[in-house]
Amino acid sequence: MSHTIIKKQGLARNIFMMEIKAPLVAQKHQAGQFIILRLHDKGERIPLSIVDSDKEQGTITLVIQVVGKTTKEMERCNEGDSVLDIFGPLGKPTLIHEKGTVVAIGGGLGAAPLHPILKALKKAGNRTITILGAQSKENIFWEVKMKALSHDFHITTDDGSYGEKGLVSAPLQRLLQEGTKIDRVYCIGPVFMMKAISNLTKEYKIPTIVSLNPIMVDGTGMCGGCRVTVGNDTKFACVDGPEFDGHQVDFDELHKRLQFYTKHEEFAESHLEKERHQCKLGDFNNEKE
Ligand SMILES: Cc1cc2nc3c(=O)[nH]c(=O)nc-3n(C[C@H](O)[C@H](O)[C@H](O)COP(=O)(O)OP(=O)(O)OC[C@H]3O[C@@H](n4cnc5c(N)ncnc54)[C@H](O)[C@@H]3O)c2cc1C
Ligand code: FES
Repeated sequence: MSHTIIKKQGLARNIFMMEIKAPLVAQKHQAGQFIILRLHDKGERIPLSIVDSDKEQGTITLVIQVVGKTTKEMERCNEGDSVLDIFGPLGKPTLIHEKGTVVAIGGGLGAAPLHPILKALKKAGNRTITILGAQSKENIFWEVKMKALSHDFHITTDDGSYGEKGLVSAPLQRLLQEGTKIDRVYCIGPVFMMKAISNLTKEYKIPTIVSLNPIMVDGTGMCGGCRVTVGNDTKFACVDGPEFDGHQVDFDELHKRLQFYTKHEEFAESHLEKERHQCKLGDFNNEKE
């Protein structure tokens, strides 16, 4: 069975969504998990969060931000085209704790992987407070969808073009200063944002879960590419995570390691036009789940 792209839709500037046929992955998917995808036989393997799944239709939903070669190639694919390999679901599912008040914070693209977690937290009976942040109004997506899963909802933009002007930490700081009882914080977004939120919640001793995005290659704990330091331990985000205790993560090391292949990534992207992959791979019949 090939992984046909059933639906493709633009969501925000440089961000689009794809629903892809992957019945075995959809069957097993739980909140917090991801896949490793290879678009075609010369493609690199990239990790992408499963942001929703439909077990009956046998589809998974991905939300992709165009940042380099492979995400650009994906943007060129259309409904009816196929993806060569989808490997997963990978990673440990989110631990949905006891009922209480949780704050879910998504920065930029982070709103997408936060969606299945928020859905599971609400379903488990938690009171959910959601804070979404983006650079600008045109980077915001899924406001209605996320609001529907939230008892209290806040939006911030860096430039003030929508919602409150400033960073996602501002509404959280206000809630904390007002004395709102918060049992747990979930935060997904850029490394500097997860670091700032974790520093803030550490002061208030509020357990904080972050979802890390290191470079991944095999996704099985073999290559060591996704190595992160958590407390005094070395962890592999693909098998031990991607979620970790934000108060223990070495964010500066993660940031440095993410820059490691910048030159290679720029080279690959600059050669994309030469290769100009056409993404008509409907003949493949090798689902690897
Ligand atoms: C667990 C996990 C879940 C993710 N979920 C999503 C998601 O839902 N949507 C989304 O758009 N992106 C997600 N990412 C990031 C995504 O994998 C990268 O944006 C993608 O690999 C970029 O590839 P590229 O060829 O387009 O860009 P490149 O030019 O190759 O890279 C651009 C930047 O992306 C990062 N990156 C590159 N290769 C990898 C790799 N193999 N593994 C991890 N990061 C890499 C690096 O920071 C790099 O600087 C996730 C990453 C992880 C680890
Ligand atoms: S991606 Fe290779 S060890 Fe995690």
